Amino acid sequence: MSSHGAPIPMTSRACGPLKGEAHVPGDKSISHRSLIFGAMTIGETKITGLLEGQDVLDTGKAMQAFGATVEKRGDTWHVQGVGVGGFAEPENVIDCGNSGTGVRLIMGAMATSPITATFTGDASLNSRPMARVTDPLALFGAKSYGRQGGRLPMTVVGARDPMPVRYDVPVPSAQVKSAVLLAGLNAPGETVVIEKEATRDHSERMLAGFGAKIETVETNEGRVITLQGRPEFNPLSIVVPRDPSSAAFPVCAAIITEGSDVLVPNIGLNPTRAGLFTTLKEMGADLTYENLREEGGEPVADLRAKFSPNLKGIEVPPHRAASMIDEYPILSVVASFAEGKTHMPGVKELRVKESDRIDAMATGLRAAGVAVDEGEDWWTVFGCGHGGVKGGVIVQSHLDHRIAMSFMVLGFATQNPMSVDDGGPIATSFPIFENLMGGLGADITRDAVPA
Ligand code: S3P
Repeated sequence: MSSHGAPIPMTSRACGPLKGEAHVPGDKSISHRSLIFGAMTIGETKITGLLEGQDVLDTGKAMQAFGATVEKRGDTWHVQGVGVGGFAEPENVIDCGNSGTGVRLIMGAMATSPITATFTGDASLNSRPMARVTDPLALFGAKSYGRQGGRLPMTVVGARDPMPVRYDVPVPSAQVKSAVLLAGLNAPGETVVIEKEATRDHSERMLAGFGAKIETVETNEGRVITLQGRPEFNPLSIVVPRDPSSAAFPVCAAIITEGSDVLVPNIGLNPTRAGLFTTLKEMGADLTYENLREEGGEPVADLRAKFSPNLKGIEVPPHRAASMIDEYPILSVVASFAEGKTHMPGVKELRVKESDRIDAMATGLRAAGVAVDEGEDWWTVFGCGHGGVKGGVIVQSHLDHRIAMSFMVLGFATQNPMSVDDGGPIATSFPIFENLMGGLGADITRDAVPA
């Protein structure tokens, strides 16, 4: 089942060259944060370029439930915030749909206010681990009551007299780091978060932008991030950059589809997000950065991707995993058309995303004729070379947008069509995916190939 309705089967077929410009939507991580941080200021935050995917819309609704005003006028979203510590107690259960980022960041944001909130989501979200967030929130004084294994639905009782916290994040997770920082906003004194591996730093950048005192120091123990609680938090005008994780789909589609030449303009190349593009270049992909520039303190470029017939399998360094964690599914598609094997170690986190992404991709790729080996924290794709992947199967998307989109892209270059049982979840992060790909010349229809 898709997250909000009946399943939507989808099929993609081999297509002619993909040509043109792909204007992908706003960054999902930055969109969630814009709404949540905006709701924690006094005054009006204005946001343009917001991703209007279901995940982000669910976060907008949640912010309204906590007392903020969130509305779209023209092309701009306006958030009238309630201030740090100003959240009202929601009257009803907060449904975060499919979004781990939404629920985990919101739990952090409310955990140091004297209110109680109950959170739920779809079947995917309700099976994901939440203790990684509620454990550090307990150190601030918040209590949580969920299902076995720390699963949603879950009630969080915010701390009445929060304590500042020093927390070593045990898993490489920007969501956990951000939840702790958001909770730290309403704790007196300094909250310190330490991460061994650098994960996306949008929260740190945005906190500084809103006026909080926050400092990151690289040390031998990792990145030490210190936030002063109870800051003067001022509203902001935010232009959300386009999402590199969404750009990955047209970029990879062009790389595997004969004759293609696609321009994907205005993509943020923040080093904590751009690992896929480095990896693709190492594999021999014809990918170039045009018009490289700086916007809002972030490196930005127009990406040009062309069909690349001589891809080779590589060893992806584990230290790069955090900077491309959402891109492994689509990387495994590109790896299927390379010569030789692509080994991807250090990726245990893939097992607790919207689905177990190693299992979901490995199962579907094997069904399509690609050999895949896997362990708890690694996987290897044995490439079939250009034209070497059979396809011709219906695979499961497991309520996971990136799994659905990855298999649709695979079908652009397989010998036979590829289907997913449910492409509905694509709307969580990339609602214009079918139209955008169709506009480039791809062939995606809403049906399933005969089994
Ligand atoms: C995100 C962090 C990552 C990523 C997710 C978005 C964020 O999750 O997979 O899509 O916006 O902070 P983890 O924190 O679980 O690594």
